[in-house]
Amino acid sequence: MTKPACPGLEGGKERVLLVDDDQNLLESIRRLLKDEFELFTAESGQEALGALAACGPFTVIVADLKMPGMDGIELLSRVSRSSPDTVRILLTGHADLQAAMDAANLGAVYRFLTKPCPPELLRLSIAAACEHAQLLRDQRELFALKRCKVLLEGIVRGFSALVEARDVYLAGHQQRVTALALAMGQELGLTGAELETLRIAGLLHDIGKVYVPADFLNRPGILRQEELSVIQMHPEVGYDILKHLDQDWPVAVIIRQHHERMDGSGYPQGLMGGFIVQGARILAVADVVDAMCSHRPYRPSLGINAALTEIEKNRGRLYDERAADACLLLFRERGYRLEETAPGGGNVKTSLDKGRET
Ligand SMILES: [Fe+2]
Repeated sequence: MTKPACPGLEGGKERVLLVDDDQNLLESIRRLLKDEFELFTAESGQEALGALAACGPFTVIVADLKMPGMDGIELLSRVSRSSPDTVRILLTGHADLQAAMDAANLGAVYRFLTKPCPPELLRLSIAAACEHAQLLRDQRELFALKRCKVLLEGIVRGFSALVEARDVYLAGHQQRVTALALAMGQELGLTGAELETLRIAGLLHDIGKVYVPADFLNRPGILRQEELSVIQMHPEVGYDILKHLDQDWPVAVIIRQHHERMDGSGYPQGLMGGFIVQGARILAVADVVDAMCSHRPYRPSLGINAALTEIEKNRGRLYDERAADACLLLFRERGYRLEETAPGGGNVKTSLDKGRET
């Protein structure tokens, strides 16, 4: 009896378990395939189950049909239940149609081969089984990624709603900013990955306001300087909340910089234009437009005309030129409209209180 050893994966080779009561056949197959696969052998069904428990999982199991004790069909049926990812091949000297049908009907086999099986056919069959196993792994990974994406979307939407629930005047703001920022991003030729980053950053850009007392956010009138300072911490707080996300996915950086201005007059870091990431430059313009068009506790909506005038007037000074141009183009030539979320919105001519446009 050949005792299976349990070494680690040999240089990325697929693990294959060969089960046959003919020791000479096992040895000849092992010599033939050992360079291509990491091979384990067992001389009975029981021994194979022991090898599975001790050394599994295997990518492929090749089992003889007729063995003393447990036959190949029973073994592969058990393997299909205990190790469903292991691809199963039945090998037999008895070209038994009924055995093949039984094995297929039990869902126990991927392929049925008859002895004497040409070595090349056996090699190709095991290689095909390994490819099938890889396909199954890829499908499972894809499924897991899709579930992660759904989960992430739920978390993002939940956090977005959380911060907006604390500030009645913020309702729908992050969604509208995201929609406008994405439209601008498309005008600017951003890639799909850049747009997705911008989308997540847009939906969460004010998440740092969870740190701000609700009273500051919803109180009419001018805030004291220290209260304003607390509100102006929200980009940094948002960055702290999200900074552990993948470093190649600069959502947190965009959020941190969405109130920076090209001339360095923004906050929290007072960065000059060259140090502000593109996503934050786009988000800044979209944020200002939507904020000016929204009602605030200390003023009614200023209207889209005032917002576009603000962007045009400060194009290149406060706002990135290309982002500003994309925004103006969308509204003036592409017919873009912000979604209405509050009653009574209109072109109310009121001076802009920049200290509160957060
Ligand atoms: Fe903000």
